[in-house]
Amino acid sequence: MIDSHCHILWGVDDASATASQSLDMLRAAVKDGVETIVATSHIKHPLYPNTLETLSIALDKLHQLIKDYDLPITVVIGAENFFNHRTIELLEKNQFVTYNNANKYMLVEFSWTKNSMDNPTEYLRQVIAKGITPVVAHPERYEWVHDDYDIIRTWRKMGCLMQVNRTSILQLDKMKQANIFALKLLEDDLVDIIGSDAHRATPTRNPVLSDVYDYVSKHYGKERADLYININPKKIIKK
Ligand SMILES: [Fe+2]
Repeated sequence: MIDSHCHILWGVDDASATASQSLDMLRAAVKDGVETIVATSHIKHPLYPNTLETLSIALDKLHQLIKDYDLPITVVIGAENFFNHRTIELLEKNQFVTYNNANKYMLVEFSWTKNSMDNPTEYLRQVIAKGITPVVAHPERYEWVHDDYDIIRTWRKMGCLMQVNRTSILQLDKMKQANIFALKLLEDDLVDIIGSDAHRATPTRNPVLSDVYDYVSKHYGKERADLYININPKKIIKK
């Protein structure tokens, strides 16, 4: 299994704070059967002003940890790139990080509550104009999407991929609407990728995927579980 949304690096965002916490997360992922993780730490100014450079340094440290403990897992670079009307210039200045630094796919996050000055569809257009396919991070968690369901179809028609969180599908998100919305997306076949969005080694935002793989297999068939957790994640990290 490939986890394409995971905050596994330490000391760079609101997730793991120490090497020890990241080690616990890596061990939990290995135990669960996760073979590859994309380190999608936040790039969210001014809170988490990460760059390719700062994240690469953090990933080097994580790689050393994996080597020291001889863990059978691969971790590649990525980021959860936040865009709103205040941060859109990052896109103009190319200050974002794509999946595996391949410049093909990029995880894009928006605000939970939309400011009237924000235009997410326009931001996605600007990403596409750069020749990069946006992967929309957890669309089921944005309040403004709940009232505008058709925007998901619009984004997919534009070529964007929808990444839904494991916790939403398993009805574990604190936001009830996100849980309801995630199941609706699955039912309507509008999901492309499932990720853990893990921040800790402990539930509920832990770096595991086997439970959601089993859930999707049981309700929608193994082919769809493989598409969301193996095939599409593999495609987006290809160099
Ligand atoms: Fe995230």
